[in-house]
Amino acid sequence: MCGIIGCAGHEGDTVPVLLNGLARLEYRGYDSTGLAVSNSDIHVVKREGELDELVETVESEIEVDGVAGVGHTRWSTHGKPSDANAHPHTDCENRVAVVHNGIIENYQSLRDDLRSLGHEFESNTDTEVIPHLVGHYLDAGSSPKAAFHRAVEKLEGSYAIAAVFESRKEVMATRQDSSLVLGVGDEATYVASDMTALIERTDSVIHLDDGEFAFLSPDGYTIIDEDGERQSKAQTTIEWDVEEITKGHHDHYMIKEIYEQSAALRECLRNRSTTDRLISLDTFDDYHSVDRVHLVACGTSYHAALFGAQMLRERGVSAQAFLASEYAMTPAPVQDGTLVVGVTQSGETADTLAALRAADERGARTLALTNVVGSSAARECDEALYIRSGPEISVAATKTFASQLVTLTLFALHSSSTESNHETRRLVSALDELPGQIQRLFDTTTAGEIASRLADGSGYFFIGRGLQYPVALEGALKMKEITYEHAEGFAAGELKHGPLALVTDETPVFVSAVGDNETVRKTVANAEEVKARGAPLVAITDGTSSIERLADEVLRVPSTSRELAPVLVNVQYQLLAYHTARHLGRKIDKPRNLAKSVTVE
Ligand code: M6R
Repeated sequence: MCGIIGCAGHEGDTVPVLLNGLARLEYRGYDSTGLAVSNSDIHVVKREGELDELVETVESEIEVDGVAGVGHTRWSTHGKPSDANAHPHTDCENRVAVVHNGIIENYQSLRDDLRSLGHEFESNTDTEVIPHLVGHYLDAGSSPKAAFHRAVEKLEGSYAIAAVFESRKEVMATRQDSSLVLGVGDEATYVASDMTALIERTDSVIHLDDGEFAFLSPDGYTIIDEDGERQSKAQTTIEWDVEEITKGHHDHYMIKEIYEQSAALRECLRNRSTTDRLISLDTFDDYHSVDRVHLVACGTSYHAALFGAQMLRERGVSAQAFLASEYAMTPAPVQDGTLVVGVTQSGETADTLAALRAADERGARTLALTNVVGSSAARECDEALYIRSGPEISVAATKTFASQLVTLTLFALHSSSTESNHETRRLVSALDELPGQIQRLFDTTTAGEIASRLADGSGYFFIGRGLQYPVALEGALKMKEITYEHAEGFAAGELKHGPLALVTDETPVFVSAVGDNETVRKTVANAEEVKARGAPLVAITDGTSSIERLADEVLRVPSTSRELAPVLVNVQYQLLAYHTARHLGRKIDKPRNLAKSVTVE
């Protein structure tokens, strides 16, 4: 949920590295920020609010400098956003400053114990027990490294932690169930919650594993495991470009990432089907002995999982999508031949990781369907299949959803047949055309105008049937998360079983009706029911069904296969949400109360 960064470099450079890294990590949380640098003593600056507040304060405090430093951008769990609750936190004597992502589950008892020993706390956070524990062991005569190690041994919960000590040119870091990446530069070493914070400094990274400790200095690093054994870990090269993590000429990351969907899908499809239309899934080509598939995911990724499960079932594979937070608590029975697929863009979502771990404990084979190479999901699962979207910065998932749908389509085709057949050829041809169709949709869409005409709605409903149902849910999620307006998605046939009571002439209803088949005709009948209640009706269609005669507004998508139409419809929904949010003056890339990477359960 929070973003952390650390740097052991040289004076004059450490603070810019921290501030730049925090700008890249702000999507993980943005209610307060802070940094600490170490010289002969530790200098901490922290502010409630977004990074600009911190930058302004740092710029007015010219003495903030040092060789080693840590920074933090916060998404509150314990304690409201405030200067006092912002990280870094220090011990009573300001000898150590700590930043933390995760939750310390036993913080209350640790806090009580430390209080009884005379420690005074300044925040309501769980994190503050960490520097006080370190301070406690320093008082007992431990060296800083030993004190850090002993303090961490006391913690229960999830954490990625980085710390600096007074008079030391070193950053110490460790992790448990929370991501942490080391960056190796020429004259500095870095640590961060994810590699987007490091791309501008180095392309050489090392993924820390649970229980490992890293000690960073300007000349290099040492990694030890929980038993104190020195580890020599391979460095990997980041393949993402700096341009991919900047906004370019766009006003928001979200619109940039919406426009990147054609390129993302080309990359997703590259070398995954052969000229005779066979599917090849590089890292997951061995589908043998899979009898049933459980897809576990959250939010947007759950909507992709619903789509994937339906695609598999249509091809005769027993498949079901589960909300990861529920599956983790009560996993469905796993038998021989059950494959559990974690659909997760970031590969770091705590609920999804917990579901995958529950599946693993029951003996299931696990697969991470993810965007991030080296993420926790990719490393913990038996296998990983990458959606290849490139970095997604905006909190609202857009291009990664399209890449998930396409990867799941390939997966479903692959699972049902390794033979070239008519069905596979038909869908692969449609997949090949998809990136170009999205590009054409951008040239013709009127989503911006429709959004401004409907932006005063009192609620928004999205309906669809079959493979369009997950996209109705996703259209509503996108709308609510960035406009803060009420929006719900429904299976079109369910509307009359309750939700229709909410429909009025102030609630625009978006209906996807692409193609002209039995399912679409039933959807059109449901749209009639909405129309009869006076709701403004927006049809998303390729023009082949009879929906247009009912519609007050029409958004066209190119004609494609039934299976891939949801990808195109969803692009229109993304644009509608984006333009509505712009019209309402919302903060688009960093919506209220949310964070990109949800690393707490
Ligand atoms: O990284 P993940 O795909 O596991 O994230 C899951 C959800 O938190 C995520 O899809 C969230 O719903 C989106 N940011 C919404 O746009």
